[in-house]
Amino acid sequence: MTKGAQSGTHGEKQIAMRIATLELLHAARGRYALGAFNVCNLEQFHGLFRGAAAARAPIIVQFTRVMRDYAHPLMLDQLLRGAEIIYPEVTFAVHHDHGDEASCAEAIASGHYSSVMIDASHLSFEQNIAVTRRVVVRAHQQGIAVEAELGQLKGVEDETPVETEVALLTEPAQAEEFVGRTGCDSLAVAIGTSHGAYKFSGNQRLHLEVLAEIQRRLAGFPLVLHGGSAVPPNEVERIRRAGGGIAPSASGVSEAELSQAIALGVAKVNVATDGRLIWTRVHREFFRDRPGEFDFMQPGRTYINEFAKLVAHKCELLGAAGRTPALTTAKLSPSGGVNNEARTALSASPQPPHDKHADKTLRTPLESTR
Ligand code: 13P
Repeated sequence: MTKGAQSGTHGEKQIAMRIATLELLHAARGRYALGAFNVCNLEQFHGLFRGAAAARAPIIVQFTRVMRDYAHPLMLDQLLRGAEIIYPEVTFAVHHDHGDEASCAEAIASGHYSSVMIDASHLSFEQNIAVTRRVVVRAHQQGIAVEAELGQLKGVEDETPVETEVALLTEPAQAEEFVGRTGCDSLAVAIGTSHGAYKFSGNQRLHLEVLAEIQRRLAGFPLVLHGGSAVPPNEVERIRRAGGGIAPSASGVSEAELSQAIALGVAKVNVATDGRLIWTRVHREFFRDRPGEFDFMQPGRTYINEFAKLVAHKCELLGAAGRTPALTTAKLSPSGGVNNEARTALSASPQPPHDKHADKTLRTPLESTR
């Protein structure tokens, strides 16, 4: 696998298009946002690519340091390679999410990523700049883009004093200085959301006024929203009914707020928790209703289908649905050329086994998850 764009058609057959993250971000900026999905198992790869194909939406596939440790980088690369060949209609970029300096260096050297995120937001402003700058220099030498983070992505409680809450957010003037001094290519901003299922404990919401000021100072610069999961109440309720201990107070980012954030310069929205909630609900309900079963493929199929629906729905919501054809057409060479590696892989690869179940449940138009 190589960095940057590689794509095309092979006779009538289209080859999957792997595009550089920065190229996707710049095409999206100000118009829509890309869904950036954290995946690391077989079912998630199928669900992600089927959902993206159904929505005809470009996506960012991302692996964290923890996921690379869990699955093994080689396993992730090969699963992705398989998905690329099985779902040739999907346009995507590959990103290393939440890296430290060492894992970014490893990802950059691997040649499998077109962008990395250096997460040094826990350090002081000056230290964050120093670490981020080192990663930027290393990454740019290889033509790889860098996402950095400024501010703290921490859940905010009702009792959190206002001054503490404000201190956690990205300070717009600092954001401008940070981007100028580090040379990073996109910036993850802290505007009140957090990772996981408990983003807000009461009536707090995203600080869109902070985002608006950052956008004013960094007009046209791609901003990233981490903690983009919606944590739908019906998923929480179903998990609880099936024996799960997730608290009823679990909550996420509303659909309306996401749309407003995109209008204010957010070009990439990270989603992990919503996919995990669906995994939990599907498996809890399956084994509750069929206590005698021990076949992982049965709930696995349901999960693929449900995850695909989630991905398609998110892409729709972010305005990314239907954007693939424009990107693909722009990338094709006048001769309809295709890179040699993709051509070889396609012709050498066996067709995926015919899955009757998939035909029935996954190739049909996808309904909304809610
Ligand atoms: P969620 O926990 O809201 O899905 O956010 C994931 C994320 O930001 C990964 O970087």
